[in-house]
Amino acid sequence: MADPISAEERRRKQAQQRERKDALRREMLRTMPHGKLSVEIGVWRGEFSQILLDELKPSKLCLIDPWGVQPDPDGGASLAGARSQDDMDRIYESVRERYSTEIAKGQLSVIRDFSLPALHLFDDQSIGFAYLDGDHSYEGVKADLEALLPKMIEGGVIMLDDYHRRGWWKDGVMRAFHEFLGANPADLRIKAIKGAQVAVQKL
Ligand SMILES: C[S@@+](CC[C@H](N)C(=O)[O-])C[C@H]1O[C@@H](n2cnc3c(N)ncnc32)[C@H](O)[C@@H]1O
Repeated sequence: MADPISAEERRRKQAQQRERKDALRREMLRTMPHGKLSVEIGVWRGEFSQILLDELKPSKLCLIDPWGVQPDPDGGASLAGARSQDDMDRIYESVRERYSTEIAKGQLSVIRDFSLPALHLFDDQSIGFAYLDGDHSYEGVKADLEALLPKMIEGGVIMLDDYHRRGWWKDGVMRAFHEFLGANPADLRIKAIKGAQVAVQKL
């Protein structure tokens, strides 16, 4: 059985890490496009969505996530607490409940689907800011970046989480991102890098 003190210590450390990461993301968001149609791909419990609303004041924020049980190479470590489809259904409902006021006002919508079919719903050159934090595999990030690019307005920014090699995805996020830059050498520029966050702007 796990030692209750070390479990408590682990939770405290995780909370501290989350606070540090959120502070860093908030700071970075202040330099990102404000007041535009924005999307978050990979929403989980919708905690970062509130920070996006606070900092970007988007014309509308669209939250995209299938909220489905998926094979997790981390053995559940990255999505702790969601073991069954019932858990995911509850999390989805809690996100809808949390943002019910914004949904009613038309300031926020929730799209329960994978990123690629969801992005088909957007007009080309319509999105001002996208936060990419869904499928972290090389193939997933590559496909999402390719699908996002035509949807972004000129000056629009795509910001990625987990730009490092420490997770189960190994170099997947970095490799897909670097290839994306290489495939569009004259149309993209790095806007900011902080910690494991990287943001690229469409010119
Ligand atoms: C790391 S969590 C997102 C955390 C959230 N952005 C935050 O900062 O609080 C990853 C989420 O991506 C979702 N996801 C996985 N594959 C996806 C895909 N292809 N499209 C959209 N979301 C996906 C998972 O269901 C999970 O909720």
